[in-house]
Amino acid sequence: MNHPQIHFSDRSAEIDLYQLQELFNLGAFWAKGRSIEDLGIAVANSEPVISIWDGEKLIGFARATSDGIYRATIWDVVIHPDYRGKRLGSKLVETVLSHPKVRWVERVYLMTTHQQEFYEKIGFETNSSTTMVLHNNQKVQEFQRAAVQELQPFPGK
Ligand SMILES: CC(C)(COP(=O)(O)OP(=O)(O)OC[C@H]1O[C@@H](n2cnc3c(N)ncnc32)[C@H](O)[C@@H]1OP(=O)(O)O)[C@@H](O)C(=O)NCCC(=O)NCCS
Repeated sequence: MNHPQIHFSDRSAEIDLYQLQELFNLGAFWAKGRSIEDLGIAVANSEPVISIWDGEKLIGFARATSDGIYRATIWDVVIHPDYRGKRLGSKLVETVLSHPKVRWVERVYLMTTHQQEFYEKIGFETNSSTTMVLHNNQKVQEFQRAAVQELQPFPGK
């Protein structure tokens, strides 16, 4: 590779959210237009958060959420368009899969619209039988409000 200054990081505090926003707007169709505040919430609630840097420039990103033992999900995998095809994407996903929060987990999930072939090369299989999705719409918000009102505090709290 002609970029000896490229390095990987697992330190989420290092993420420049403005560069992350730009990277998503450029290379991640599902994550265009996300606000800085919301990106900060997503990063703060994910582990690991893996980033790739060419010097000071953010050129790759992926994050996961995990219970540490049973299930983990990988989110927001993206390589800057100028840096694709150099095996950075596969190394990025492998780095997420090697992190202690993910490496012992029984099953790792992800959602992808177009990149099945890329993930199959890493070892992922198509899994159409188990996945459902809930969009956070008005109906959902109504039962959420009702459920929160009915929640009893734990004894002693
Ligand atoms: C998908 C993405 C992360 C791949 O990153 P990359 O650095 O270009 O991929 P790599 O160079 O590591 O490729 C690894 C292997 O997958 C193959 N591959 C990569 N993208 C592919 C694609 N879209 N279709 C088929 N094969 C693909 C490569 O040819 C390579 O194969 P090889 O091992 O036989 O040489 C990158 O193209 C990207 O950021 N795309 C836009 C965002 C996106 O769609 N992310 C996934 C969302 S779920």
